[in-house]
Amino acid sequence: MSNNITSRRNWLKQGALFAGGLMGAPALMSELKARPAFGMTPYRGKYNLQEYHMAPPDFSKIKVRLLANENPYGPSPKAIKAIAESASKGNRYVYSSSRKMEEMLAEKEGVKPENILLGPGSTDLLEKTAIVRCMNGGNVISAEPAYMSLVNTSRSVGATWKNIPLKADYAHDLDAMADAIDSDTKLVYICNPNNPTGTITPSNEIMAFGRKAADKAPVFIDEAYIELAMDPEVKTAVGLVNEGKDVIIARTFSKLHGMAGLRIGYMVAQPERIKSIKDMVRTEMGISVTSMEGAMASLADTEFQEKTQTLNQECREYTMGELKSMGFEPYPSYTSFIMFPVDMPTDKLMYAMVDKGIGIRTYNINDQPYCRVSMGTMDEMKQFTTALAQVFDKATVQAGGK
Ligand SMILES: Cc1ncc(COP(=O)(O)O)c(C=O)c1O
Repeated sequence: MSNNITSRRNWLKQGALFAGGLMGAPALMSELKARPAFGMTPYRGKYNLQEYHMAPPDFSKIKVRLLANENPYGPSPKAIKAIAESASKGNRYVYSSSRKMEEMLAEKEGVKPENILLGPGSTDLLEKTAIVRCMNGGNVISAEPAYMSLVNTSRSVGATWKNIPLKADYAHDLDAMADAIDSDTKLVYICNPNNPTGTITPSNEIMAFGRKAADKAPVFIDEAYIELAMDPEVKTAVGLVNEGKDVIIARTFSKLHGMAGLRIGYMVAQPERIKSIKDMVRTEMGISVTSMEGAMASLADTEFQEKTQTLNQECREYTMGELKSMGFEPYPSYTSFIMFPVDMPTDKLMYAMVDKGIGIRTYNINDQPYCRVSMGTMDEMKQFTTALAQVFDKATVQAGGK
C-alpha cells in the first residue's frame, strides 16, 4: 500500500516535472501550438476551405449513413465466410497470408510482389508515407479541395502545404502543380477521382505529369474510387510504376469491396520506395488475419464487385437526376458520392438532415456551402432526396414529392 502511495507520489512529481519542463521550453510549446488542427477540428487553408471531418453530433439519430462513402452492400458474402473461417488462425501473425495476398495483387495489377505494400486501410499508408517523407520538413503539393489525410499528416510533422486549386472543370491543375515542385518538395499528391468533389483528371494527363514530375519528387496517386468511375477513360496510373517511375499508387478495400470497418488497403510503388517506408514503420502488422483472408476472398468475388458497381451507378444516376430536377447543380461524379453547392449554412443543413435521420457531409469552400452525399441503397437515396426536398422546400420527381 505505502509502496503504491510512494509510486503515485513519484508519478505525480514526474508529471509536474514534465509539465514544468514543457513550461520552461517555450520553443517546444510554440512548436506544438503551431501545428495545424487535425481530425475533428475544421481547418482553414489559404483558400478558406473549412471541412467538417465528422458531421453528426449525435450518431444515434442517424438511420441512413450517407456521410463516409461506405459501401452499403458489403462485405461480399464470400469475404464474410472467409473471415469466419480464418478466425481460428488468430493466434498466428499474418505473415504467410500477406505473402499470398501480395502475389494475388501483383498479378491483378500486372506488377511484381515486391511492388506491393499492404496496410490496414489506405489511410495508414497515406499517413505513414507522409511521416516518413516529411519528418524533416519540406513541402507537399496537392489540389484544393482534396482528400486531406496525407496533407494533414505532412503538416502535422512539419511540412508546408502548397495548395493548388482545382481548375474550372474540377480537374487537377497539373501545370501549376508541376511549377510548384521545388528542391524541398517531398510528395506530390493527386486524388483521382477526387474526394470531396467526385470529379476526375484525365488519365492521359496524369500519366504525362507522372513521367516528368516523378523525376523531381515522388508522386502519390490515390485511386480509392477508381473502380467505381465506370468510365473507360478513367484508368489507373499503375503503368507508371512499371515504367520505373517514382510513383506511389494507393488502393483500398473500403469502397468497391465494402470492407471499410475491416481496414485493408495497399500501395503499388518502386521496391526502393517501399523499403524506405518499411525501414521506419511497419504497415502490414496492423492488418488482422481475418481482414486479409476476407480481402483475398473478395478479390476473387467478381460477381460482388460488379453488383456494387452497377448499383452504385444506378443510385448515382437517380440522385443526379433528382438533384438537378430540384434545381441543384451537382458536380459530375465518378465515385460513390456526389457534391453540390447549397444556399444554406452548412451547420443548418446538417442538423436539419440529421433531424430527419439522414447523415451527410458538409463543406465550406471559399465561403460557399456544399453538401456531399454518399451513395447508399436506392431506398436510402429516396429517403435522402425526400428529406432534402423538405429541408429546401422543393418538390422531388421520382421520390414521390414532399
Ligand atoms: C480519397 C480517399 N483516400 C483514402 C481513403 C481512406 O480509405 P481507407 O478506408 O482505406 O483508409 C478515403 C476514405 O474515404 C478516401 O476518400
